[in-house]
Amino acid sequence: MSSVRGEFSSRFGFIMAAAGSAVGLGNIWGFPTQTASNGGAAFVLMYLILAFCLAYPALMAELVIGRHGQANAVSSLQKLGNNPVQKKFAFFVGFGGIICAGLILSFYAIVAGWMLSATLEPVATTVGAAGAAQWLSEQSLVRDLSFTLIFVALTISIISKGVENGIEKWSKRLMPALLVILFSLIAYVLTQEGATTGLKAYLVPDFSSLLDPGLLVSALGQAFFSLSLGTSVMIIYGSYISKQENLVSLGAYVTLIDVFIAFVAGLLIIPAMYVAQAQGVEIFSSSGQLLSEDTLVFQVLPALFEGMGGVGVFVGFAFFALMSIAALTSSISMLEAPVSYAVEKFALARTQATWIIGGIIATVSVTIILNFSALFGLVVQLTTQFGQPLLGMLCCIFVGWIWHRKKLLSEIQEGHPEVASSVFWRIWPWYIRFVCPLAIALVFINSL
Ligand code: PHE
Repeated sequence: MSSVRGEFSSRFGFIMAAAGSAVGLGNIWGFPTQTASNGGAAFVLMYLILAFCLAYPALMAELVIGRHGQANAVSSLQKLGNNPVQKKFAFFVGFGGIICAGLILSFYAIVAGWMLSATLEPVATTVGAAGAAQWLSEQSLVRDLSFTLIFVALTISIISKGVENGIEKWSKRLMPALLVILFSLIAYVLTQEGATTGLKAYLVPDFSSLLDPGLLVSALGQAFFSLSLGTSVMIIYGSYISKQENLVSLGAYVTLIDVFIAFVAGLLIIPAMYVAQAQGVEIFSSSGQLLSEDTLVFQVLPALFEGMGGVGVFVGFAFFALMSIAALTSSISMLEAPVSYAVEKFALARTQATWIIGGIIATVSVTIILNFSALFGLVVQLTTQFGQPLLGMLCCIFVGWIWHRKKLLSEIQEGHPEVASSVFWRIWPWYIRFVCPLAIALVFINSL
């Protein structure tokens, strides 16, 4: 079977694809705004600790399950079960992850749709289409439905091309573009008045909030969301990695890039907020609380861009293009999770499977848009606060308690026997057995 399956053609290709999945709205939007509302640098510090000590080991569990299984998430997990009960449990975890990925995509596409329309608005302004620009800037049902569907269609068009010509090819193009836009914007914003105050708020910790349970829960949730854990996505990406690659270092690269981009995005967003404040735009409510995340992104930042005059149109375009690109490389990974399952389980053609599943997800998105106040928050909470940590924890339990330890270790060191002398080797198996499940469970219970 493996001969008909796709595979990443290079190490670079895998890293771009997996980092593309990890780096998304969660990094560029979620991380900076969470940092700003959770005590600045104290949150950054806690996030870094949790990302490396809990999320990275959990990411490795998912990658190794996939690489060993060389199949979709359900089949890969089932290969590790030794009896019918364990195989049922495997189905629950794998299929649960696939559903979680699909649901995340259904709300993610809505937010990404807002980003797309915000990208086009400055273009419409520049070409003098005032009516169109007005329509793009005002929230309406028709606008939201149109751009959500356009975004899902873009995702479908990449995924229907497969692993090497779809996911890998586009990740290799879009991720470098994202970096260039991100760094150009930072260079620009940091020269503006007010930026230094923002840098201070971002980088000087308020240690009094460091052990606040709310902060811990937010930081862990953020780390899990950001590394795309508990959604079967990293299992399926792991299954496209060749047996010659060093898994331990690949996982480490992906974590490093993800954390790095989140951190760097903070250098853009938080100073930008303070630059806006210096120009008279309000970023704190009357009670001193930071305004809500969407107020920040869709009101504060556009106000800032507008205030910049001619160059603002260009900066606004670049900013929302950055957001849209980040969202797209993540959304393709979410669609790949159910599509790979459908292709292998029901022997569907990839294009057919992609359109059917993409259609179902678009229908869910439309339902959410039509019942926005009742459904949007609910789906976000259900998937990111409950689904992801829970399923991520179950993957750790699978690897730590059900999989035969010798086989697990041999998969990790496949093609790279030198891994056996690393620190990772000594700590990880024990870590994935006890520390990760326990810590995730504790943080999780705390959040209830
Ligand atoms: N990691 C992505 C982000 O930070 C979101 C994501 C979640 C992607 C789950 C895939 C699966 O935006």
